[in-house]
Amino acid sequence: MNILHIDASASDSATSHTRRLSSELVARLAAANPDATIVYRDLVANPLPHVDMTIRDAWTGEDFNGTKSAETKSRSKALVEELKAADVVVIGSPMYNFTVPSTLKAWVDHVAIAGQTFSYTAEGPHGLLGGKVYLVLSSGGIYSRGPFAAYDHLSTYLTAILNFLGIQDVEVIQAEGIAYGPEQDQAAMASAAKRIQAVAA
Ligand SMILES: Cc1cc2nc3c(=O)[nH]c(=O)nc-3n(C[C@H](O)[C@H](O)[C@H](O)COP(=O)(O)O)c2cc1C
Repeated sequence: MNILHIDASASDSATSHTRRLSSELVARLAAANPDATIVYRDLVANPLPHVDMTIRDAWTGEDFNGTKSAETKSRSKALVEELKAADVVVIGSPMYNFTVPSTLKAWVDHVAIAGQTFSYTAEGPHGLLGGKVYLVLSSGGIYSRGPFAAYDHLSTYLTAILNFLGIQDVEVIQAEGIAYGPEQDQAAMASAAKRIQAVAA
């Protein structure tokens, strides 16, 4: 089993909810699969550049075989290969302003490449990836139910883009409402930890 572990929290591992939960899940998956290989990508310690026009030129445009966008293309290619090689992807992501942190969006922009991870056909777009993704998410508020459900552009966005790329098996584990006080914080973390134990068993 190849595991790709991605973290996107701007908080460090001592304080981040998603870093703690995603590493717990990866540790449990690795314990259950002793031959597993783990690739770790910290999008905050090693941020990817925002996409500019060189990525378009690198993959489809005039500079396809040129040197201008060679660095962009080789970076993007390595990220795509890393994702293709993964049987299981664990993404730890907080909600920032109702959606993904921009570091994680930059990663999506580097891997969602026509002809590589999806293709266009006469019938419409077709995802080229498979495998399983665990989304390990956290937010200050509560979005899985209640009046702010329509504000959730985190789990919905990530599930949509992963489905678009062909990954249909997306499981969401979340610690919600951590800003509602220490009791809710602890309850949300305990509930997420319980889910992690169950899915990794
Ligand atoms: C820049 C920033 C933006 C945030 N935006 C939201 C938001 O829109 N909705 C929300 O419920 N919580 C928001 N939060 C709170 C985080 O989602 C919450 O603290 C989460 O648990 C952070 O995960 P982490 O501990 O792994 O970093 C925001 C936090 C930061 C730092």
